[in-house]
Amino acid sequence: MPVIFDEERKIFKLDSAGSSYIFEVYEQGYLVHLYYGAKIPDTNVGGFIDKGFFASECPMNINIDNPRFSPDVSPLEFSGEGSGDLRSSTIAVRNQDGNNVTDMRYVSHKIYPGKPALEGLPALYVNDDSEATTLEVLVRDSVTGVEAILYYTVFERFSAMTRSVKVINPTGSEVYLERVMSSCVDWDTHDFDMITLYGKWLKERSLERAPLTHIKQGIASKRGSSSHHHNPFAAIVDHDCNEDYGSAYGFNFVYSGNFIFEAEIDPFAGTRTVMGINPEGFEWTLGSGESFTAPEVVMVYSGRGLGEMSRTFHRLYMTHLVRGKWAHAVRPLLINNWEATGMDFTGDKLVTFAERAKELGIDMLVMDDGWFGRRDDDTSSLGDWFVNEEKLGGPLSGFIDRIKAFGLKFGIWFEPEMVSRDSDLYRAHPDWCIHVPRREKSISRSQYVLDFSREEVRDYIYSLMHGILSENHIDYVKWDFNRYLSEVGSAGLPASRQKETFHRYVLGTYDILNRLTSDFPDLLLEGCASGGGRFDPGMLYYSPQIWCSDNTDPIERLSIQFGTSMCYPASSMGAHVSASRRAGYETKGNIALWGTFGYELDPNTFTEDDKEIIRAQVNEYHKYYDVIHEGDLYRLITPDKNDFRAAWMFVSRDRQAALVTSVVMRTPEDRSFYLKLKGLDPDKYYVEDESGEVYSGALLMNAGLCLNKYGNADGDSFKLYLRSL
Ligand code: DGJ
Repeated sequence: MPVIFDEERKIFKLDSAGSSYIFEVYEQGYLVHLYYGAKIPDTNVGGFIDKGFFASECPMNINIDNPRFSPDVSPLEFSGEGSGDLRSSTIAVRNQDGNNVTDMRYVSHKIYPGKPALEGLPALYVNDDSEATTLEVLVRDSVTGVEAILYYTVFERFSAMTRSVKVINPTGSEVYLERVMSSCVDWDTHDFDMITLYGKWLKERSLERAPLTHIKQGIASKRGSSSHHHNPFAAIVDHDCNEDYGSAYGFNFVYSGNFIFEAEIDPFAGTRTVMGINPEGFEWTLGSGESFTAPEVVMVYSGRGLGEMSRTFHRLYMTHLVRGKWAHAVRPLLINNWEATGMDFTGDKLVTFAERAKELGIDMLVMDDGWFGRRDDDTSSLGDWFVNEEKLGGPLSGFIDRIKAFGLKFGIWFEPEMVSRDSDLYRAHPDWCIHVPRREKSISRSQYVLDFSREEVRDYIYSLMHGILSENHIDYVKWDFNRYLSEVGSAGLPASRQKETFHRYVLGTYDILNRLTSDFPDLLLEGCASGGGRFDPGMLYYSPQIWCSDNTDPIERLSIQFGTSMCYPASSMGAHVSASRRAGYETKGNIALWGTFGYELDPNTFTEDDKEIIRAQVNEYHKYYDVIHEGDLYRLITPDKNDFRAAWMFVSRDRQAALVTSVVMRTPEDRSFYLKLKGLDPDKYYVEDESGEVYSGALLMNAGLCLNKYGNADGDSFKLYLRSL
């Protein structure tokens, strides 16, 4: 059984394919964390608790006459606020007395097959109840009566589990939720590094790794979205953990708004990590009988380094997060006009794009920003989702017919959450945007954020989108989001509930995405936020692909794609070949092949030679689709560790095929270099497609592949396709 309760020892044990997670119902109902790591058969791990004794001469505890236990130094599952455990808390509920002391203890539990959906929130799902097992633990604060259900779901075929929390108020009076973390994991050691993905516009998800210190460390967003600045991902890893070796604990928050991940070392050398909605700017009034569901954290354990951790996330997301037809259907290879034209285009011009694209075997034309209202630059018209027929040379349906006449699919850009200051919508409803009374609103890209916490605002925008999508043959929508939230408040909420705005905004966005994906199940959505400013599992639940970055320079893209691959699969990474000049089309194509693949340029500019390369790339896209999208990723040389080269490979799940790619970022100093491959079957022989050379998997992984014959100049690259004999 993946989840058991040892009645005698009062111990829960949650087993996934490669990990065990163990905790105990201790005296007086404290939930004490015992173990998280490589799978073990035992439940007899209670000795881990013996810590309070060493903690101080006067261990601080409540209702327990036991000098060996002190909540302040014990590993806990769900730590209360200001009640014996004075580290970062998991929950803080302010009560009618005005204090927020919270102390929740075990009441009961249940274990069942499957996984419940989280109300209004994206979350991992199961196709069949046999794929996961859920443990619900009910805890209660005996003074206020406030309760919480802790959800743990184990995905048995992966080394993965999810955690979330539902806070319930059965007390008869209002209480105020000030903080709720979705996960809290305590370790007995702090011998760890923390890996996070920092960034900014044009430099998203760059890897950062540092040892944990006694200084509280963490990442956060209070920008209203998960943000460019920090991705809601963190890994706690052994100091010597590398791609293939060591323990790695990955945390990824299925949420697209404000978040925190914190690591705190206690005075006795233990580490606590918490992850959840950022409590800064957050408070939720819970009326009697009401509940609040916190988003979930996905937790992956790997005992074989970061590579295995990433592959587990990728497989899990491909099968239990990305939904519907596009989880596995071949995605259309697209051309997008943004980098070629900006908003300076006409219908006729885009028809020439479509004609050229068709000649090259491209599947879909995407019309980016600028097709609506009076939008010829970024100062106007967001919110006025009415087709600019003058620009398109007639109604949208006629224009789409012209594109479809070439046999292409058609995609369109929206930025539904925004309103331009210069727009009819803003003039008619100035109070429909996020704002606070009596204070000027910060403007960014000439636009404000619509208040999606309000139903009437959402309904209005959705009715316009629905109209356009149902009246036209549209196959794809790029959903953009080009600024952060500031001066956050809602005219739809009373003063006492203003701090609910951030979260209600995210729930409102999810509501529209839900409506869109259920009304148009075949529509392919691509998320976007000034490049990759909202690349998170919450968005991935709705949009199977997300634009990685507005930085399409191929060499710069390498570190962005390596970082993104820490937890997000290749099929989610929007990556295009652009007109950027730092490398030729071959290299740009080789790098974009790692992601969804497409073009972001004017195809009228192609020379005959370019066209030949592009046609070959289109064929390669189809030829390698399965190995990239359904296979396993191995990062061979990461750009943050090597100034000269980057290399990666995909191996099919049956290890019959592999695609290896290597890029020269700067001419290497070494004249002779052997690239050691990974993930192959050592006992199989593989033939290299182009040369016909045959090598054993053992040779390729141990001796390596000699790179001397490949180009060594800046921007050179090659790829090799291997098939087993
Ligand atoms: C930001 C996106 O990242 C770009 O790809 C493009 O869609 C622009 N917005 C359009 O305004």
